[in-house]
Amino acid sequence: MTGSKAALAVLISGHGSNLQAIIDSCNKGEIAASIRCVISNEAKAYGLQRAQQANIPTNVLSHTEFSDRKLFDDALANLIDGYNVDLIVLAGFMRILGADFIKRYEHRIINIHPSLLPKYKGLDTHARVLSAGDKIHGASVHFVTADLDGGPVITQESIPVESSDTAETLQQKVHRIEHEILPRTIGWFADNRLRVVDGKVFLDGKLIDYTNHS
Ligand code: GAR
Repeated sequence: MTGSKAALAVLISGHGSNLQAIIDSCNKGEIAASIRCVISNEAKAYGLQRAQQANIPTNVLSHTEFSDRKLFDDALANLIDGYNVDLIVLAGFMRILGADFIKRYEHRIINIHPSLLPKYKGLDTHARVLSAGDKIHGASVHFVTADLDGGPVITQESIPVESSDTAETLQQKVHRIEHEILPRTIGWFADNRLRVVDGKVFLDGKLIDYTNHS
């Protein structure tokens, strides 16, 4: 860590409710972390206002201004490096990052994903859960690797799917658990409790394994 608290860059694209959960956890002293910057690829992301209200520096880096993914990734890395952070948190950041970017911050990027990974990588997870008739759903936090939504899972939490659920109600329920597991995971990172060895995650030396989740 660069200081007594883990320094975070939080990357967003939209509403920023997960960002808010991190801000609140930091402010309440629940986790030994502080947000150095919030970066959005969307100028209209509401999360930028949340950051400004919390006096956190914000930056907009629009992918539309770059002719290819690599140039965007390089500009993003330059921006992040100016803040000297320990951990990059993808909190609803809807851009795919290239392999070079990910390698540069190996084991220092985490992502929140709205499904019980390895099920339902990608988009529209709530609708896909409903069409499959699944009885449980949930959210996962994982380390980011070049395999999209396929990096090792650090933690996940599940919710029951009720017959009355719609994609919208599932989204609300999943959001609620996301707001618990994302700050909790950042707290583990900040307390130096996580290790990645050969692509496997260890918490306090104990292997975390969600690969056989069904
Ligand atoms: C969250 O549900 C997060 O899991 C999802 O975007 C939402 C952002 O909400 N991320 C992904 O789908 C990434 N593949 P928020 O802006 O209110 O935090």
